Amino acid sequence: MPRSGNYSERKRNKMKEQLAKIKEEALAAFRAAEDAAALDELRVKYLGKKGELTGVLKMMGRLSPQERPVMGQLANDVRAALEKALEESSRKLEAAALELRLKAEAVDVTVPGESVSIGHQHPMNIALDELKDIFIGMGFTVMDGPEVELAELNFDRLNAEEGHPSRDWSDTFYFDTDSRVMLRSQTSPMQVRAMDTMPLPIRIVAPGRVYRKDEVDATHSPMFHQVEGLVIDRGVTMADLKGALNAVAEKLFGEGTQTRFRPHHFPFTEPSCEMDVQCYKCGGAGCPTCKGEGWIELLGAGMVHPRVLEMSGIDPEVYSGWAFGFGLERLALRRFKIDDLRLIFENDVRFLEQF
Ligand code: PHE
Repeated sequence: MPRSGNYSERKRNKMKEQLAKIKEEALAAFRAAEDAAALDELRVKYLGKKGELTGVLKMMGRLSPQERPVMGQLANDVRAALEKALEESSRKLEAAALELRLKAEAVDVTVPGESVSIGHQHPMNIALDELKDIFIGMGFTVMDGPEVELAELNFDRLNAEEGHPSRDWSDTFYFDTDSRVMLRSQTSPMQVRAMDTMPLPIRIVAPGRVYRKDEVDATHSPMFHQVEGLVIDRGVTMADLKGALNAVAEKLFGEGTQTRFRPHHFPFTEPSCEMDVQCYKCGGAGCPTCKGEGWIELLGAGMVHPRVLEMSGIDPEVYSGWAFGFGLERLALRRFKIDDLRLIFENDVRFLEQF
């Protein structure tokens, strides 16, 4: 059938109508799109290869050659308008999405932070560190050793022979029936370990745990800490012992602290003594802290027994030495004014927080 002007004109009008309708619909839909995905679907629907606009363009072939460019121009204008609107909507949606994210992820930097509570050293370690500082400052080396010890080192090599009361089963934790392996009852075997392993002269402190079969009360515990000290050199005398320990007492309790050396007995020192410090509370007059004594016992000490030196292969005619040992808990208790030893070991955070 030949194309009549009327036919073509109807076609043209129909296309114009369709284009106008597509444009109107698409613009409204673009504006109403709620997110990027919905907008993209609309893009495909209206502008895609199989989209509505393309559908109309495909019908161009049915128009007369004169009408085609006019309609073509019209269709291109619609496409351009749609693309522009699409672009605008897309930008608006992006901006809105960004706005939403910024709100959702907003951080209020003025809100106070949640404080993380990091603990601190146990009072025993504070006291021990202070002591180490003092001794390191005096040229001592800090030495470490085993808590499970041979009775040979804990007793025999320290001149405490078979039958010595400290070796009794009622006082000592042995691991075996023939009393050879034990939990050390003092840090003094570290003297032997030092003499066996270190070159002379020796100047060490050895802090650590010791064990005795004591019932727990305000002043006793089956496990406690001692700090051992040993100095061995040529020509060392009791004057060195007193001078050094007086200096330690002054560092611990303040300048001018008075000390007192009382005769005592230990199997591995000769002579042996105990050192007291004048009560820091009452200055020696007598008070509850020193139980009316005016003095507080601090440590045991003495000149290393020649037989102990000999057993370690050191010639007592050439070398001499002095040693001391004290309980660290007592020192910490006094340092922090704690009146019950059990508090030190219970590790109740409410208690420990105070130091
Ligand atoms: N070891 C002794 C005690 O436990 C203390 C001490 C150490 C005494 C060194 C003299 C020399 O009581």
